[in-house]
Amino acid sequence: MENNNVMDQQRLPLWEGLKKHTDRNSIRLHIPGHGGGRFLPPGLKEPYAKLAPYDLTELPGLDDLHNPDGIIATAQELAAEVWGADSTYFLVNGSSAGVVAMLLATCEAGDTVIVPRNAHAAVYHGLILSGAVPHYLPVATAEEGFLLNVTADAVRIAFASCPSARAVVVTSPGYHGVCADIEAIAATARQYGALVLVDEAHGAHLGFHPDLPKASGRAADLSVQSWHKSLGALTPGAVLHQYGSRTDSRRLRAALQWLQTSSPSYPLLLSLDAARRQMALSGSVLWSQALQAAAEVRAILGQMIPVLERAWFREHGFDLDTTRLTLLTGNVGINGLEAASRLASCAIDVEMACPGHLLAIFTPGIDGGDLVRIREALSGLPACLQKAQPALLPPLPKPQAVITPRQAALGPYYTMPLEKAVGQVAAAAVTAYPPGIPVLAPGELVTQEACLFIEAAIKSGISLRGLDRSGCLCVCKGDGEAVE
Ligand SMILES: Cc1ncc(COP(=O)(O)O)c(C=O)c1O
Repeated sequence: MENNNVMDQQRLPLWEGLKKHTDRNSIRLHIPGHGGGRFLPPGLKEPYAKLAPYDLTELPGLDDLHNPDGIIATAQELAAEVWGADSTYFLVNGSSAGVVAMLLATCEAGDTVIVPRNAHAAVYHGLILSGAVPHYLPVATAEEGFLLNVTADAVRIAFASCPSARAVVVTSPGYHGVCADIEAIAATARQYGALVLVDEAHGAHLGFHPDLPKASGRAADLSVQSWHKSLGALTPGAVLHQYGSRTDSRRLRAALQWLQTSSPSYPLLLSLDAARRQMALSGSVLWSQALQAAAEVRAILGQMIPVLERAWFREHGFDLDTTRLTLLTGNVGINGLEAASRLASCAIDVEMACPGHLLAIFTPGIDGGDLVRIREALSGLPACLQKAQPALLPPLPKPQAVITPRQAALGPYYTMPLEKAVGQVAAAAVTAYPPGIPVLAPGELVTQEACLFIEAAIKSGISLRGLDRSGCLCVCKGDGEAVE
C-alpha cells in the first residue's frame, strides 16, 4: 500500500475515547449488565478483567457506529486513508454482514448479478435477501480439488450474454490465496455500466508488501475485508470500503443498520482501529516476516510435498498470495486429512484439509520457534503417511439454477433424504465448511453430480452445513417461477 497518509496514523481514536471514559471511574447505571466486569460470571472475571471495563455502549463521547461523528468516524477515516477508500465502514458482524450489505445496497429484486462459483455462502444470503438473480460464472478447478478463480475472459463472456447485469461479484483472493485479475474484470464491468463488488475477506493485507498480490482497491466499487482473518483484529472484525460515487452511501449505511447489531462491541471496534494503526505504521515489515516464514516452510518442503507456486498462477492470468501455503499432499500419496491430524498430534493446527491437499496460513504472528516445530513435524510426514493416491473429491458440481435463491429459500419446503432428492430443487444451501462455498444453493437443481460430491465429502470427513442429522436436505414444494 503506498504511504500517502496525511492524517496522523499514530492515533488510536477509539482508545483515546475509551480511556478517557474509563479514567473517570464512573458508577455504571447502564448496559452492558456486567458493569465493567464486576458482574461477570465466575470463571470469566479473571480472563476478561482487563477488557471488561472497555466493553461499553454508546455513551457521551463514545460515538455511535450507525451514525458516527466522533471517535468512530475518525477511526474509519484513518482506515479509509490507509486503504485509499473514499469511505470505510467498520463491521462488527464479519465480512458476512458486509457482503450481504453490498448486495442489498446495490441490487433490487430481479436485478441480475454475475456471481462466481467460488462465492462464499454470504453472497447467497445477499441474493436471498435482495431478490437479485445470479448468473453463475464458471471457476476453474485444480486437479487436487480446489477452486482457482474467475478469469477476465469468463467475465467478458458472462457480460456478453447478460449485458444488463447490475453488478459482478468477485471473490478475490479465494480461500487458497488465488487472486483474480480484478482490474481487467473491472474494465469489462465498467463498459457495461455494472458495479464491481469484491469479497476480499481474505485479502486485507494485500498491497502492503511488493511480494503480495495487489489489493482490489479502486478497481472495486465496494470491497469487504475480514480484518480478523489476515490482520490482528478480534473475530469477527471486518470492514467495508467504498470507492468512488457509483454506489449509494445512504442505502449502504441503511443496509448495514439492518444487518448489524445496535449494540456493537467496543473491544472489537478498538481492535479494528489498532489493526489499522499497526498496518499503517509497520504493515510492510510485518508482512515481510510472514512472507519469509512461508518461504522457509516452502524451502523445507523442497521436493517432499509439492506446493502451489506463484509463478504458475501468474502465467495463467491469476496471482497467488504466498502466505497461503497449499500442500498438494495427494500428489505424493498422502491424504491431506491424515496429514492434518498428524500435524495436530504435534499441536500444529492448519486452516483446512481435504483428501487432496491441506492449507496453512502464515501471518506475522508466526515466530522462529514455531518454524522449528513445523520443520520437525513436516519432515516426519511423508514416510509415515505415504500410501496409495487418496480418493480425491470430485469437482464442485456446476450450478443449475431453476428458481431464484429468494424464491427457493423463502418458499414452502419439505425435507427428504439426499439420495432421493435428485431432480428436486434445493430450498436451502448445502455448504462445506471450510471454505464456506455452497455445493448446492437454494434454487438449484439437486443433481446426481451434487449428491456424489456431498457423499464423497461426508465420507472423507469434511463438515457440511445444510443436511440434518439423518442426512435429509430441504427441497422446494411446488415449482416456483423459473429463472430465465
Ligand atoms: C470468501 C469469504 N467471504 C466472506 C466470508 C465471511 O467472513 P466473516 O467470517 O468475516 O464473516 C468468508 C469466511 O470464511 C470467506 O471465506
